Amino acid sequence: MPIQITALTDPASRPSSFRLAWVAADPDGNPAGSAYLRVFTGAGQDHLAELALAVHPAERRKGVATALLEQALAAATAESRRSVIAEADADSAGAKFLAARGARKVLTLTFGRLALADADMDAVAAAVAQPHPGYRLIAWDGAVADELAQTYAESRRAMDDMPMDDTDYGTTTWDVDRVREVAKAVADRGELLHTVAAVAEEDGSIVGFTELVVEGDGEGDGQHYGTGVLPEHRGHGLGAWMKAESIRLARETHPRLAGLLTDTADSNTYMRAVNDRFGYAPTHKTVTYQFDL
Ligand SMILES: CC(C)(COP(=O)(O)OP(=O)(O)OC[C@H]1O[C@@H](n2cnc3c(N)ncnc32)[C@H](O)[C@@H]1OP(=O)(O)O)[C@@H](O)C(=O)NCCC(=O)NCCS
Repeated sequence: MPIQITALTDPASRPSSFRLAWVAADPDGNPAGSAYLRVFTGAGQDHLAELALAVHPAERRKGVATALLEQALAAATAESRRSVIAEADADSAGAKFLAARGARKVLTLTFGRLALADADMDAVAAAVAQPHPGYRLIAWDGAVADELAQTYAESRRAMDDMPMDDTDYGTTTWDVDRVREVAKAVADRGELLHTVAAVAEEDGSIVGFTELVVEGDGEGDGQHYGTGVLPEHRGHGLGAWMKAESIRLARETHPRLAGLLTDTADSNTYMRAVNDRFGYAPTHKTVTYQFDL
């Protein structure tokens, strides 16, 4: 089937990325699929783009995605990209398509869910109550307070060595502006950002954090964002401590919240152990594929 591809103007640009978009149509002009290429512009990630492709179920296996991919990869090359990544559910049509078109599998994530009604809140409370000499927990909602903004931005490098396996992910450079942008993006979507952080008593600096995002009405499932502990403060159980407090606060603040969702690299044994300890049940896996241009 001859496929027409039209490039669209996509206004969804962010401070550290912009997006290119294409729509595919059949010879009668009926839309058959679309592709979005997010092009990262921040220092440390300006070699990377992320692709999302979708083809209408009735139009699949006719080469529509292949035609869209060709455009997207040509655009990525024109934008001087070294790597293009795309995520799909494990064993799905998407994973098969990406493998068939020459991408290589670089990362597997396991998604998990804690059903709050079934959660062992006594175990969570006991984990929160366990003393961690030299550290205390703090929590805030929305954007970080001005007096903590700098130390919080500095603690974000805790995510730099998060296992990304073979993904050519680069590094994200964090500063106060970027921390505020993330909080604003969540608020602009009408969602609630809750952060728990571990503070070192000796100098009052933030040494670890865990973020949870909840729908504005406090219902449905909340989504854990990043959890990280600075390398020099690892091995003291701070990750599990912060996560326990995050679960406790979620239950207390949002009594109608049904569950908490998390996704963790299969190779991230520490976070997987934390998730197992508090009863997160695996739901599904995704695979990230990478085109090396
Ligand atoms: C993945 C997806 C975009 C493929 O679209 P498509 O237009 O059907 O793909 P193409 O026709 O160009 O397929 C090209 C090749 O990919 C492989 N492929 C695609 N779908 C497949 C499937 N369901 N099972 C096995 N191989 C598949 C085949 O090798 C196929 O060639 P063939 O049809 O000659 O055997 C489509 O199934 C989709 O929209 N899925 C949901 C969203 C998604 O997973 N996106 C991918 C992540 S970015």
